[in-house]
This record gives sequence, structure tokens and C-alpha cells, in this order.
Amino acid sequence: MTLDFLGTLQRTHTCGELRTTHSGQTITLMGWVNRRRDHGNLIFLDLRDRTGITQVVLDKEVSPEAHAKAEAARPEYVIAVTGVLRNRGEGLANPNMPTGDVELVAHSLLLLNDAKTPPFSPAEDAIANEEVRLQYRYIDLRRAEMQKNFLVRSRVAMAIRNYLVSQGFLEIETPFMTRSTPEGARDYLVPSRVHPGHFYALPQSPQIFKQILMISGFDRYFQIARCFRDEDLRADRQPEFTQIDLEISFPQMSTIFAVAEGFLHAAFRAAGIELPDEPFIQMTYDQAIQKYGIDKPDMRLPAMVDLSATITPELRESLKIDPTLPILGFTIPRVSTLSGTQRRGLVDEIRKFFGDSGLDFLDVARLRTNATFVPLAETIEGRLSAEMSRFNGVSHTSEDLAVVITPKPGTPAMWNYDPQWIYKRIGALRLELAKKFADKHKLFEQTQTAADFKFLWVTDFPMYEWNEETKTWDAAHHPFTSPHEEDIKSGALVNDKGSVRALAYDVVLNGTELGSGSIRIHRKDVQSEIFRSLGMSDEEAKARFGFFLDALEYGTPPHGGIALGLDRIVMILAGAQSLREVIAFPKTAKAIDLMVDAPTTVSDAQLRELSLRTVTRS
Ligand code: AMO
Repeated sequence: MTLDFLGTLQRTHTCGELRTTHSGQTITLMGWVNRRRDHGNLIFLDLRDRTGITQVVLDKEVSPEAHAKAEAARPEYVIAVTGVLRNRGEGLANPNMPTGDVELVAHSLLLLNDAKTPPFSPAEDAIANEEVRLQYRYIDLRRAEMQKNFLVRSRVAMAIRNYLVSQGFLEIETPFMTRSTPEGARDYLVPSRVHPGHFYALPQSPQIFKQILMISGFDRYFQIARCFRDEDLRADRQPEFTQIDLEISFPQMSTIFAVAEGFLHAAFRAAGIELPDEPFIQMTYDQAIQKYGIDKPDMRLPAMVDLSATITPELRESLKIDPTLPILGFTIPRVSTLSGTQRRGLVDEIRKFFGDSGLDFLDVARLRTNATFVPLAETIEGRLSAEMSRFNGVSHTSEDLAVVITPKPGTPAMWNYDPQWIYKRIGALRLELAKKFADKHKLFEQTQTAADFKFLWVTDFPMYEWNEETKTWDAAHHPFTSPHEEDIKSGALVNDKGSVRALAYDVVLNGTELGSGSIRIHRKDVQSEIFRSLGMSDEEAKARFGFFLDALEYGTPPHGGIALGLDRIVMILAGAQSLREVIAFPKTAKAIDLMVDAPTTVSDAQLRELSLRTVTRS
């Protein structure tokens, strides 16, 4: 088979746009053979490009030459066809295709390129094993679903850019080859050839640069910025990812919230979802922990309910519940009927989840029927159902599962050391059970309407986090975050680090942290104090951040900002389960690019040039 040259032929239309209004026109399409059906004198080719599919008819009587080439064509061959569009005959229209009312009767066909039989077909709905998809990413990306994801991604990024520019933001690029930024992950390092033994670090975020841009008077900066972090990967983490990064001078927290909400509205609109025109709800970190047991609450589920006040001291004693610790319950909607065996299985599962932590369950039951919360059935059930009604706006049903957890006396160290531990642990169980029942009962089914997207702001994060391993206080966000003014004035920075609140906030969507930010420290004395409080000596602070401490001394305006994960936003909008579905060339969980096969070893000559030698760690 000989391949044809394109010559001067131009495509006139795309494969997704043809309708009955185009009938009678002479049209040239170019694309890939999606499927081919051979009926002897008639061959049907489904021709695909990124906009859709058009049926092409090769009739031996119309053009024996084009028909002969179509006989040779196979799936994924690249072809050009010219012909006349016609309406499909009576009863032959395909209502499942936007172009299903028409077909192109070809009078000429060019075979522009052939294709080996691909390891999987982009035309099939069944998805190949992910490793194969990543290795042959160019074929995977041809699938309609992937094409749709990247269309959404492009539109969303553009909408955000337009929105921010309309709000007076300047897009400014910051370097990739820089020095370490403290975002809490390991750095990717780039060795310097010119300075043996010296390394650049790829930025974990443009944090310091954007603050310096505020010192430089730029007022409102943004960047759709690539960040690099060497950390353990999960479905929502990639080593290279993209942030919508912004910083504002002279802001109140509300200024930053309004901008982020504004561009999220624009982004969702670009994906066809009109969010309600009202501000996102806000709750403090402490409230989030007490109500949801987590700093990124999934508001698609009802909150936990503190049942402590419902239980009298006598009853606590008779049930052997710790006299001081909280008793929490939660409900999971639409779990449906559980058989006796399923219920016992669930009880075992909950016990296993808590292990020997001292937490135990008091009971699980379905609300309404079989409320077996002995001996408190009525009251506990009442409180739990009240939350259910508050959440649903409608009464609970007998399909809802309720779980009540009690701490036993003789408490393990865990909750002495972290008073919020019980809330967090029970919050984790709440999510685990919700996930367990989610698939079966479509708890989190996304219909991609505005009501499916539950946003909130979590504010007043703790400034410090105790690190059990190193026995030090770490910055919970990053060390440029400003503490609450009162907590600076009260001396808590020195005396009671655990109580210091930061002017830090997260925007959360359906249990995923979309973005994080803070009001920054803009005074050198406070910044130095914070470095000290993190156990950094003045010398070390000078060595690591001397340039920044210097810059702070030259008239730094109050400023603050935020960064949102673009990949995560698109993942949720695309209804995808992993960032790999919305990043064109992602890495595996082991940080490997299977298509280009990176990372690789390099030649000794390259290593020598960089003054490097590799050693194998045992
Ligand atoms: P933070 O580290 O919280 O804050 O990151 C902000 C947002 O970036 C996204 N993100 C990631 N997405 C994919 N893969 C990853 N490995 C990954 N890590 C983070 C998340 C997250 O909410 N400089 C600060 C922001 C600021 O203070 O302005 C920062 O980077 O969506």
C-alpha cells in the first residue's frame, strides 16, 4: 500500500460539526479511522477528530479508487476524504451521535498515514490497564473522555486568567531554577555545572517570589505556576502540578476570599456549571474538627453530633464511658437495610478501626426503625435525626445509618496530647464508612450540577504543628504566615505555641483541599521571631532566608494571597478520580513517566561535567 501526499488539500470542516444544514455541500474532512465496516461494495468509515465523529460512505460505484483505498484503511489510519454530505436515509439516522443525521459520500480519499494495531483502541469504552495507557499516552489522549478533560482544563485556565486580569492582576513569571522554598516537601534539585557542588532547587511554589513582587510594588500578582514537590504521591498529588497562585497588597482576608470565589465561579461557568451567587460558607479550623473531625470537611455528609450533654454522669458510669471525654455520633444517609450479619460485620469493622485506642462504639443502628441505642434510644436518636434533618432539609429515613462512639476510661496518651484526636479519629471513621457505602448507594454520585459542589472556607488554622518525630514545632502552613495579632501581643508565640492561631485559610470542595493561603508577615522583627519560634537560629535564618529578611526591611506592604491547585479543580470538574486523568503527561505513583521513561541514568561524561558521582544506597 502506498501512502498519499497531502498536496494542497485543505480541510474544510471538523468531524463534529456537520449537520443536515450542511447537506449538499462538498466537504473535506481529515482525521483518524475510528471504526471501519466493510459491506463489499459499500464501506463505512467512522472518521474521528477531536471534535467528534462523522460517518463516511465509500461506494464502489461513486469512486472505485476511493473505495479501494478504504479497503486498505484500518483503525487509527490518518486519512483525508472529500465528498458530498447527504442526509441519512429514512430510519438510518443515529440519534446517539451529534452528526448522526448525515453522512459524507466520499469521491476521493487520501491515505495520509498508516498505523500499527494500537495496544488498545481509543474507540472502545473499556479502559485499558493504566500502565499501558500511560506508556502509550498519545493513544490514550485520543479517547473522547480525555479530549473532553483537556478541553475543560483549557477553558477553565482561560476563564481564570481572564477573570484575574479583569480584576487588575498582572501575570508575572517566576524562576524554575531557584533555591529551596519551605512548603514541607523534599526539593527536586538541579546541579550546577558552573558551580561544582552547588544546586538549584525547583520551586515547591512561587511563595517567596510572589511576596517579593509585593515588596516591589506590583499590588496584584498572579501566575498559573508549575510547582515541583518530591513527596509521596496519591491520587490527588503529582510531583509536578499547577497552581493558580496569587498575591495581593493591603488585603483583608475577605478581599482574598472574594477574588478566589470570583475566579472559581468563572472557572465553573467555563465548565458549564453556574454556582449560586452567594459567598462560600466559612468555619474555623476548631469548628471543622469538632463538627467533621477533619480540616477539609466533606459537606455532602451530615456533621458529627456531640451527644455528651445527652448522657448523664450516672449513665456514663453505668456504660463505662470516660467521665470527661466527648461522646460523638454521626449518621450516613441512604445506607439502606442491613441484615443482622451485615450489622455485626460493621460492628467488627468499627472495633478494628479503633484498635486498642480506647474508643469503642456504643451502638450502630438505623434511624427510625430498630433504634437500639439502649438505654437512650429516644434522646440520642432525636439528636442524630435533628442533624440529619438540618442537613437534608427533610426528615431522616429508615435507610440512614447512625453510629455512636464512646471513649472508655483509662485513656491512652493520644488524646491527652492532642485534645482533638477523638474528633479526628471519629471523623476518619465517618469518611471511611461513607466511602464504604458510597458506591453501593451512590452517595457521592456527581450529576455535575451546582448542588453537587459544596465549597467552604476553613479559617484560623493553628500556627504550629507538633512534630513527634523531631520533637519540634513546625509551621502548619509555611513560616511566612502571620499569626493572629492578639496571639503575638499575648506572648503565646513563646509561651503557648499550641494555642497560636494563624491568619491562614483553606478553600475546600467536597472534602478536597483546593487551595491554601494566608495573610503574610510583613515585618522583619515578626518574621525573625517566627523563625526563632520554629527552632531556627538567627544564623540559620540568615543563611536560608537572608535575602528575604533584607527585602522585608525596605518598605514591605501588608500582603496576603492564596494558591489553588488547578489540577484538582479540573479533576473535580471532569468527575475524574485521579489527577492523572487531567494532566497530559503525568507520573505514576512511583514518580515515573512511563512514556518517555524518566527518570533515567545519565552518562559518566555528564556526571563528570557536573562534578557528580552516584552511589547506590543499600
Ligand atoms: P499549598 O502547599 O497548600 O500552599 O498548596 C496549595 C494548593 O496546591 C495544590 N497542591 C497540589 N496539587 C497536586 N499535587 C501536589 N503534590 C500538590 N501539592 C499542593 C493543592 C493545594 O491546596 N505557597 C502556598 C500558598 C500560599 O500560601 O499562597 C502553597 O503552595 O490544591
